[in-house]
Amino acid sequence: MELDINELLNFSPLIKTFTFNAWIVSGFTPISRGSSLDYYINRPNGMKGYIINLTLRGQGRAKVGENTLQYEENDLLLFPPGVPHQYGRDEHSEYWDHLWIYFIPRPYWLDWLKWDKNILGIGKTRVTEPVKQAHLRELFYEVIRHNSDDAPLSEALAMNALERLILACFQLQPVSNHHAHDPRINAVCDYLNDHIDEELKVEKLASMVFLSPSRLAHLFKKDLGVTIYAWREQQRINRARLLIQSTLLPIFKIAQSVGYSDPVYFTKIFRKHNGIPPAEYKKRYEKMNNLPGNQTLKPGKR
Ligand code: FCB
Repeated sequence: MELDINELLNFSPLIKTFTFNAWIVSGFTPISRGSSLDYYINRPNGMKGYIINLTLRGQGRAKVGENTLQYEENDLLLFPPGVPHQYGRDEHSEYWDHLWIYFIPRPYWLDWLKWDKNILGIGKTRVTEPVKQAHLRELFYEVIRHNSDDAPLSEALAMNALERLILACFQLQPVSNHHAHDPRINAVCDYLNDHIDEELKVEKLASMVFLSPSRLAHLFKKDLGVTIYAWREQQRINRARLLIQSTLLPIFKIAQSVGYSDPVYFTKIFRKHNGIPPAEYKKRYEKMNNLPGNQTLKPGKR
């Protein structure tokens, strides 16, 4: 499918009532010399989530202190959380058009977000093969399209397309993608996801994969960067959010189905991950989906 630039412009992540507390926000930013979008984005403390972008046309430049990083058509950039950035159109180029996605990764994506080449803390990959270039554009497009849609499960579909995009980018990292997760850790993750509402017993998990509990805890942290408990909590809250978006179940039922029998405790954990309690999340989600007027980007507004 050809990318339709005008269609992309109709998506309005920056006008919707979102904050960057959202899990995924994406869009298309066309910049030409002197246009209203032609300024340097400056985030001295970086952001809470990751940003991935793909240059479609022209050249851009990122500055960190005295150093600069240049990028052009078919370059992918990855800004990890907290990495300061200041970037925009390169003054020698008439344009810098780019597609971008801001996202909070699912915990098991973290390993796939380690790219081979990092300059000033920013991952950079040039996509050289035309087939891959087209495929990546298509994936960005898919994420942006789902992300701007009001249909039920559209956020899940956007995350699903994003996962494929992240995998496709990771395939372009010959050094980093050499390391795969330990199969025992994968088995533990699968088990936890299949028994998300059950009590967690590290001893039981460890014996399932023939490891001692302390060895399992160590391996898990090494592979996924978080503890087993933290990972499971994240999965539970992810699933709860999905259920709030896609079912009419009352919050206490949702809490139960992801393993929290105490709704007060569930609310506390949910708030920790999403910044707001589940009831408020539900209200805002419904409100946002009932406001079709919120969807259009006026070109030039950000
Ligand atoms: C937009 C920028 C884009 C990205 C998102 C998070 O304003 O155009 O590059 O940084 O913000």
